[in-house]
Amino acid sequence: MATERSLILVKPDGVQRRLIGAIVTRIENRGLKIVGMKMLNVTPELAGEHYAEHIEKPFYPLLEEFITAAPVVALAVEGPEAISVMRGMMGTTNGRESAPGTIRGDYGVSRQMNLIHGSDGPEAAARELGIYFKPEELVDYEPTLGEWVCADDEK
Ligand code: RTP
Ligand code: MG
Repeated sequence: MATERSLILVKPDGVQRRLIGAIVTRIENRGLKIVGMKMLNVTPELAGEHYAEHIEKPFYPLLEEFITAAPVVALAVEGPEAISVMRGMMGTTNGRESAPGTIRGDYGVSRQMNLIHGSDGPEAAARELGIYFKPEELVDYEPTLGEWVCADDEK
């Protein structure tokens, strides 16, 4: 088991629908630790860098239009297996198919406007955290409740 960091975005639909607090609350309530957080506008250049794997796909122009249409909130989230834990909390890509109890399944009905991005593996997480955060913007602190979130051999 490993402590991981994941790059999470509250996407423009989440910001416009005033769901930043609801989404951040779920992350905090799960016991994950926020180690970076900021609001920004994604430029077309940044969108292309982030979603490089999708740039040749037919849906990319609409994805770029969507992700640049309003601000996002970028979060660096840390915890035991934080990458897969966050993917599980997010739900499947298409909100119509996401299970109730997931963020996408509770708040959305769209494949594109699915509220949240989360890194899909350790390499993606390292790359994406580097795109959205300078090293000095990621903070290191001892969480007071850390001893009550998981056992030492899970960290
Ligand atoms: P994300 O990267 O944003 O966390 O989402 P994901 O892994 O669940 O889905 P991915 O396949 O990586 O797709 C990235 C985002 O592009 C939009 N999308 N549109 N119109 C379409 O067919 C389509 N497919 C994907 C979604 O906003 C998706 O989250
Ligand atoms: Mg993805």
